[in-house]
Amino acid sequence: MNINDNVLQNNEKIIYALRELYASRGYSRYAMSKFEEYDLYAKNKDFLVSDNVITFTDTNGKLMALKPDVTISIAKNTRDIPEGVRRIYYSETVYRVSKSTDSFREIMQTGVECLGDVGTEEMVGVIELAAESLSLLSDSYAIDLSTVAPAGPDGDEPFREVLARLKKGPYADRFRVNPALSGDENYYSGIVFKGYLAGIPEAVLSGGRYDRLMRKLGRSSKAAGFAVYTDRLERLDIAAKKDGPADADWINIALPKGRLGEQVYAIFAAAGYECPALLEPGRKLLFENPARKVRYFWVKPSDVAIYVERGAADVGVCGKDILLEAEPDVYELADLGAGKCRMAIAGPKTYADDAETTLRVATKFPNIAKTYYRSKGRAIDVIKLNGSIEIAPLLGLSDVICDIVETGKTLRENDLEVKEEIAAISARFIANKSAYTFKTDAICRMAEAVGTTGR
Ligand code: PRP
Repeated sequence: MNINDNVLQNNEKIIYALRELYASRGYSRYAMSKFEEYDLYAKNKDFLVSDNVITFTDTNGKLMALKPDVTISIAKNTRDIPEGVRRIYYSETVYRVSKSTDSFREIMQTGVECLGDVGTEEMVGVIELAAESLSLLSDSYAIDLSTVAPAGPDGDEPFREVLARLKKGPYADRFRVNPALSGDENYYSGIVFKGYLAGIPEAVLSGGRYDRLMRKLGRSSKAAGFAVYTDRLERLDIAAKKDGPADADWINIALPKGRLGEQVYAIFAAAGYECPALLEPGRKLLFENPARKVRYFWVKPSDVAIYVERGAADVGVCGKDILLEAEPDVYELADLGAGKCRMAIAGPKTYADDAETTLRVATKFPNIAKTYYRSKGRAIDVIKLNGSIEIAPLLGLSDVICDIVETGKTLRENDLEVKEEIAAISARFIANKSAYTFKTDAICRMAEAVGTTGR
């Protein structure tokens, strides 16, 4: 049977190409059920990206789960390999809560696992196969490497040794050490790596060494592997593999509209990233200066992090309050020192906290308020408001507020006072993780020039 290429969707083509690659490198297909007993995840929550798992009761009354993860099942279901290694590949769907939509998503993963006596040689093989996987998809790809909490004398990765080998191999110029890479510390122990394609805002490949997970599941074998997130490749134009993005040497910058934005732009202009058109009166939101290869957009301050996380902007400037509240998946590279204020708990001068009641907290920042009171073990009822927060305790809507205090004038004029300080806030320079990988020098230069330490 011959299948006409035209009927395949982009990610289906990618999955077949990857499977072909893994089979040709001696990996054998590992097929598994879509379900596991829920107990496996209840006992190994530490190893899951999120606690949310879809469950159902099987015909025999057992509580089952739709798989949120592939590696845990492989670690549990494969036998120990006393000698040598076993190499397997899989192509499976997992079910996880997506942070952006806060609802369950089907995520397609194609990946490999190498189980058994995994040493430097095998580790290098797995990481080079990750690079080869990305080379099938684009000419502009890179792999960031780092090492997380070592698993002990047994599993302690000779990171430098592996790195030295990679630097002599066929994909040498594609690897980069990135200490900021956050591997899932619970999951991995030793080397972790993430793969990026230019033009795709998030990592499309993620992998590492997971001896600790194997031990937790009672296995004596060591293990390493990676997965390609094929659903993130839906929009990848494989036919245009050779051409990287047209504006690869430009930097797209999202600035917060308003007073802070103007202050921030002045810092960028003084640092050599001027774009005079930006100061012309009018309603235009997008400006470029081809001479400096910078493109600025004015966006709502609370949206800057979204533009950057999703790669519509390479970099941007937003308040630390927004970073604490939304926890976007971006790098925070510099403090601009502008827009200084404090995040604080404030309340009426007469208010005294009563630990016996649930504290009612009005705020624009529910996540910051919850995290702060969780760390203190205090039960709260969060009342999410969109502005004029100071009025809430005056009308009895809340006991206290969690809000920004700049000059303190709003508090004073409403007979409120700061009760506790949570964090110092100022404007921060942030970068998209994929853009940072491909435009490292230009982005670091910019961070240095606009940050307080560089000025
Ligand atoms: C912010 C904040 C406080 C005020 C603090 O509100 O929420 O209300 O500024 O500044 P101050 O300490 O200098 O008085 P914003 O001006 O953004 O308006 P909002 O109430 O509509 O959110």
